[in-house]
Amino acid sequence: MNLPKNLPRHIAIIMDGNGRWAAQRKLSRIKGHEKGAQTVRTIVRTCARIGVKELTLYAFSRENWKRPRLEILFLMSLLKKYLVKERAELMKNNIIFKTIGRIDELPAGVRKEIQENIRLTARHTGLTLRLALNYGSRTEIVDAARRLATEVKKNNLKINQISEKKFARCLYDPSMSDPDLLIRTGGNMRVSNFLLWQISYAELWVTPTLWPDFKPEDLSRAIRDYAQRERRFGGL
Ligand code: FPP
Repeated sequence: MNLPKNLPRHIAIIMDGNGRWAAQRKLSRIKGHEKGAQTVRTIVRTCARIGVKELTLYAFSRENWKRPRLEILFLMSLLKKYLVKERAELMKNNIIFKTIGRIDELPAGVRKEIQENIRLTARHTGLTLRLALNYGSRTEIVDAARRLATEVKKNNLKINQISEKKFARCLYDPSMSDPDLLIRTGGNMRVSNFLLWQISYAELWVTPTLWPDFKPEDLSRAIRDYAQRERRFGGL
Protein backbone atom coordinates (compact mmCIF):
# COMPACT_ATOMS: atom_id res chain seq x y z
CA MET A 1 0.00 0.00 0.00
CA ASN A 2 1.41 3.33 -1.13
CA LEU A 3 0.84 5.70 1.80
CA PRO A 4 1.94 9.24 2.66
CA LYS A 5 3.95 10.04 5.82
CA ASN A 6 1.34 12.32 7.37
CA LEU A 7 -1.28 9.70 8.13
CA PRO A 8 -4.47 10.85 9.83
CA ARG A 9 -4.07 10.03 13.50
CA HIS A 10 -7.79 9.43 13.96
CA ILE A 11 -10.17 8.19 11.26
CA ALA A 12 -13.95 8.12 11.83
CA ILE A 13 -16.23 6.24 9.45
CA ILE A 14 -19.97 6.39 8.73
CA MET A 15 -20.46 2.90 7.30
CA ASP A 16 -23.44 3.30 5.01
CA GLY A 17 -24.88 1.25 2.13
CA ASN A 18 -25.32 -2.29 3.52
CA GLY A 19 -29.02 -2.26 2.59
CA ARG A 20 -28.41 -1.00 -0.95
CA TRP A 21 -25.63 -3.53 -1.47
CA ALA A 22 -28.07 -6.32 -0.59
CA ALA A 23 -30.93 -4.85 -2.66
CA GLN A 24 -28.67 -4.69 -5.74
CA ARG A 25 -28.20 -8.45 -5.37
CA LYS A 26 -31.83 -9.18 -4.49
CA LEU A 27 -30.69 -10.34 -1.06
CA SER A 28 -32.21 -9.46 2.32
CA ARG A 29 -30.76 -6.42 4.16
CA ILE A 30 -29.39 -8.89 6.70
CA LYS A 31 -26.96 -10.25 4.11
CA GLY A 32 -25.73 -6.70 3.54
CA HIS A 33 -25.00 -6.27 7.25
CA GLU A 34 -23.18 -9.62 7.31
CA LYS A 35 -20.98 -8.54 4.43
CA GLY A 36 -20.55 -5.15 6.15
CA ALA A 37 -19.22 -6.91 9.24
CA GLN A 38 -16.54 -8.56 7.06
CA THR A 39 -15.53 -5.12 5.79
CA VAL A 40 -15.22 -3.96 9.40
CA ARG A 41 -12.76 -6.76 10.05
CA THR A 42 -10.61 -5.92 7.00
CA ILE A 43 -10.56 -2.18 7.64
CA VAL A 44 -9.73 -2.59 11.34
CA ARG A 45 -6.87 -4.91 10.46
CA THR A 46 -5.57 -2.49 7.82
CA CYS A 47 -5.68 0.51 10.17
CA ALA A 48 -3.81 -1.45 12.85
CA ARG A 49 -1.17 -2.51 10.36
CA ILE A 50 -0.48 0.91 8.80
CA GLY A 51 -0.25 2.72 12.14
CA VAL A 52 -3.47 4.73 12.43
CA LYS A 53 -3.89 5.50 16.15
CA GLU A 54 -7.67 5.70 16.45
CA LEU A 55 -10.53 4.33 14.37
CA THR A 56 -14.11 5.23 15.33
CA LEU A 57 -16.91 3.36 13.54
CA TYR A 58 -20.60 4.33 13.54
CA ALA A 59 -22.03 0.86 14.10
CA PHE A 60 -25.49 1.59 15.56
CA SER A 61 -27.15 4.96 15.98
CA ARG A 62 -29.96 5.91 18.34
CA GLU A 63 -32.02 6.53 15.20
CA ASN A 64 -31.45 2.88 14.12
CA TRP A 65 -34.00 1.76 16.76
CA LYS A 66 -36.64 2.97 14.28
CA ARG A 67 -35.80 0.06 11.93
CA PRO A 68 -37.99 -3.09 11.75
CA ARG A 69 -37.75 -5.17 14.90
CA LEU A 70 -36.27 -8.16 13.08
CA GLU A 71 -33.47 -6.09 11.57
CA ILE A 72 -32.61 -4.65 15.00
CA LEU A 73 -32.59 -8.14 16.53
CA PHE A 74 -30.31 -9.32 13.76
CA LEU A 75 -27.94 -6.35 14.13
CA MET A 76 -27.67 -6.98 17.89
CA SER A 77 -26.95 -10.66 17.39
CA LEU A 78 -24.42 -9.88 14.64
CA LEU A 79 -22.73 -7.37 16.94
CA LYS A 80 -22.55 -9.90 19.78
CA LYS A 81 -21.08 -12.53 17.48
CA TYR A 82 -18.60 -10.00 16.09
CA LEU A 83 -17.44 -9.01 19.59
CA VAL A 84 -16.68 -12.64 20.46
CA LYS A 85 -15.28 -13.67 17.09
CA GLU A 86 -12.91 -10.71 16.78
CA ARG A 87 -11.45 -11.11 20.26
CA ALA A 88 -8.48 -13.13 19.02
CA GLU A 89 -7.87 -10.55 16.29
CA LEU A 90 -7.89 -7.72 18.86
CA MET A 91 -5.39 -9.64 20.99
CA LYS A 92 -3.11 -10.57 18.11
CA ASN A 93 -2.97 -7.02 16.73
CA ASN A 94 -2.48 -5.19 20.06
CA ILE A 95 -5.78 -3.31 19.54
CA ILE A 96 -7.48 -1.37 22.36
CA PHE A 97 -11.26 -1.80 22.25
CA LYS A 98 -13.60 1.00 23.36
CA THR A 99 -17.16 2.18 22.80
CA ILE A 100 -19.08 5.43 22.82
CA GLY A 101 -22.85 5.77 23.17
CA ARG A 102 -25.54 4.88 25.70
CA ILE A 103 -24.20 1.40 26.30
CA ASP A 104 -26.44 0.81 29.34
CA GLU A 105 -29.48 0.69 27.00
CA LEU A 106 -28.08 -2.21 24.91
CA PRO A 107 -29.12 -5.85 25.50
CA ALA A 108 -27.34 -7.48 28.47
CA GLY A 109 -25.65 -10.11 26.26
CA VAL A 110 -24.06 -7.42 24.08
CA ARG A 111 -22.99 -5.37 27.12
CA LYS A 112 -21.26 -8.39 28.60
CA GLU A 113 -19.14 -9.00 25.49
CA ILE A 114 -18.31 -5.27 25.26
CA GLN A 115 -17.06 -5.25 28.86
CA GLU A 116 -15.01 -8.38 28.23
CA ASN A 117 -13.31 -6.86 25.16
CA ILE A 118 -12.60 -3.61 26.99
CA ARG A 119 -11.10 -5.52 29.91
CA LEU A 120 -8.97 -7.85 27.79
CA THR A 121 -7.51 -5.10 25.61
CA ALA A 122 -7.00 -2.34 28.20
CA ARG A 123 -3.23 -2.83 28.37
CA HIS A 124 -2.69 -2.87 24.64
CA THR A 125 -0.72 -0.07 22.96
CA GLY A 126 -1.72 -0.21 19.28
CA LEU A 127 -4.78 1.03 17.42
CA THR A 128 -7.78 2.17 19.48
CA LEU A 129 -10.89 0.72 17.85
CA ARG A 130 -13.96 2.57 19.08
CA LEU A 131 -17.45 1.41 18.16
CA ALA A 132 -20.23 3.99 18.36
CA LEU A 133 -23.19 1.96 19.65
CA ASN A 134 -26.60 3.36 20.49
CA TYR A 135 -24.80 6.59 19.73
CA GLY A 136 -26.21 10.00 18.90
CA SER A 137 -24.12 13.11 18.98
CA ARG A 138 -26.83 15.43 20.30
CA THR A 139 -27.53 12.92 23.08
CA GLU A 140 -23.80 12.84 23.86
CA ILE A 141 -23.73 16.64 24.12
CA VAL A 142 -26.83 16.68 26.33
CA ASP A 143 -25.31 13.95 28.54
CA ALA A 144 -22.14 16.08 28.87
CA ALA A 145 -24.21 19.16 29.76
CA ARG A 146 -25.96 17.14 32.47
CA ARG A 147 -22.67 16.02 33.94
CA LEU A 148 -21.35 19.58 34.01
CA ALA A 149 -24.59 20.89 35.53
CA THR A 150 -24.32 18.24 38.25
CA GLU A 151 -20.77 19.38 39.05
CA VAL A 152 -21.95 23.00 39.26
CA LYS A 153 -24.81 22.03 41.52
CA LYS A 154 -22.44 20.16 43.84
CA ASN A 155 -20.24 23.28 43.95
CA ASN A 156 -17.31 21.40 42.38
CA LEU A 157 -17.29 23.73 39.38
CA LYS A 158 -18.12 27.38 38.75
CA ILE A 159 -20.14 28.34 35.67
CA ASN A 160 -17.34 30.58 34.34
CA GLN A 161 -14.91 27.67 34.65
CA ILE A 162 -16.77 25.75 31.94
CA SER A 163 -14.46 25.77 28.92
CA GLU A 164 -14.28 23.83 25.66
CA LYS A 165 -11.66 21.61 27.26
CA LYS A 166 -13.80 20.86 30.34
CA PHE A 167 -16.82 20.23 28.12
CA ALA A 168 -14.90 17.80 25.90
CA ARG A 169 -13.80 15.88 29.01
CA CYS A 170 -17.45 15.15 29.77
CA LEU A 171 -18.10 13.53 26.38
CA TYR A 172 -18.35 9.70 26.31
CA ASP A 173 -14.62 9.02 25.86
CA PRO A 174 -12.45 11.77 27.38
CA SER A 175 -9.33 10.15 25.91
CA MET A 176 -10.60 10.45 22.34
CA SER A 177 -8.84 12.91 20.07
CA ASP A 178 -10.76 14.83 17.40
CA PRO A 179 -11.01 12.86 14.13
CA ASP A 180 -8.69 14.15 11.41
CA LEU A 181 -10.56 12.40 8.63
CA LEU A 182 -14.26 11.52 8.44
CA ILE A 183 -15.12 8.97 5.76
CA ARG A 184 -18.68 8.28 4.66
CA THR A 185 -19.50 5.42 2.30
CA GLY A 186 -22.73 5.10 0.31
CA GLY A 187 -22.60 8.57 -1.22
CA ASN A 188 -24.85 10.63 1.05
CA MET A 189 -23.50 14.08 1.88
CA ARG A 190 -24.51 14.30 5.51
CA VAL A 191 -23.11 13.72 8.98
CA SER A 192 -26.16 12.00 10.49
CA ASN A 193 -25.68 13.06 14.11
CA PHE A 194 -22.16 11.56 14.32
CA LEU A 195 -19.46 13.25 16.44
CA LEU A 196 -20.80 16.77 15.85
CA TRP A 197 -18.57 18.33 18.51
CA GLN A 198 -15.46 16.37 17.54
CA ILE A 199 -15.53 16.84 13.74
CA SER A 200 -15.32 20.65 13.86
CA TYR A 201 -12.04 20.60 11.90
CA ALA A 202 -12.13 17.12 10.36
CA GLU A 203 -11.53 16.65 6.65
CA LEU A 204 -14.56 15.04 5.02
CA TRP A 205 -14.30 12.30 2.38
CA VAL A 206 -17.44 10.81 0.86
CA THR A 207 -17.40 7.92 -1.58
CA PRO A 208 -20.33 6.39 -3.51
CA THR A 209 -18.83 2.95 -2.79
CA LEU A 210 -21.18 0.98 -0.53
CA TRP A 211 -19.72 -0.20 2.78
CA PRO A 212 -19.68 -3.94 1.90
CA ASP A 213 -17.63 -3.06 -1.22
CA PHE A 214 -15.20 -0.74 0.62
CA LYS A 215 -11.66 -2.14 0.34
CA PRO A 216 -8.26 -1.27 1.85
CA GLU A 217 -7.49 0.39 -1.53
CA ASP A 218 -10.42 2.78 -0.97
CA LEU A 219 -9.10 3.57 2.50
CA SER A 220 -5.71 4.21 1.02
CA ARG A 221 -7.24 6.60 -1.54
CA ALA A 222 -9.01 8.53 1.23
CA ILE A 223 -5.76 8.77 3.20
CA ARG A 224 -3.81 10.00 0.17
CA ASP A 225 -6.46 12.66 -0.58
CA TYR A 226 -6.39 13.72 3.06
CA ALA A 227 -2.61 14.03 3.04
CA GLN A 228 -2.73 16.43 0.09
CA ARG A 229 -5.14 18.82 1.74
CA GLU A 230 -3.87 21.83 3.58
CA ARG A 231 -5.40 22.02 7.05
CA ARG A 232 -5.59 25.54 8.38
CA PHE A 233 -7.87 25.24 11.45
CA GLY A 234 -9.24 28.72 10.67
CA GLY A 235 -5.77 30.28 10.32
CA LEU A 236 -3.97 31.26 7.12
C1 FPP B 1 -25.76 1.18 7.26
O1 FPP B 1 -26.30 0.46 6.21
C2 FPP B 1 -25.20 0.35 8.28
C3 FPP B 1 -25.59 0.27 9.60
C4 FPP B 1 -26.96 0.18 10.11
C5 FPP B 1 -24.57 0.28 10.62
C6 FPP B 1 -23.32 -0.49 10.31
C7 FPP B 1 -23.41 -1.93 10.61
C8 FPP B 1 -22.51 -2.83 10.13
C9 FPP B 1 -21.36 -2.46 9.29
C10 FPP B 1 -22.72 -4.27 10.41
C11 FPP B 1 -22.13 -4.81 11.63
C12 FPP B 1 -21.16 -3.99 12.39
C13 FPP B 1 -20.34 -4.54 13.29
C14 FPP B 1 -19.41 -3.70 14.08
C15 FPP B 1 -20.33 -5.97 13.49
P1 FPP B 1 -27.81 0.75 5.83
O2 FPP B 1 -28.60 -0.40 6.25
O3 FPP B 1 -28.24 2.08 6.37
O4 FPP B 1 -27.66 0.85 4.25
P2 FPP B 1 -28.60 1.61 3.24
O5 FPP B 1 -28.39 3.09 3.46
O6 FPP B 1 -28.10 1.15 1.91
O7 FPP B 1 -29.99 1.16 3.53
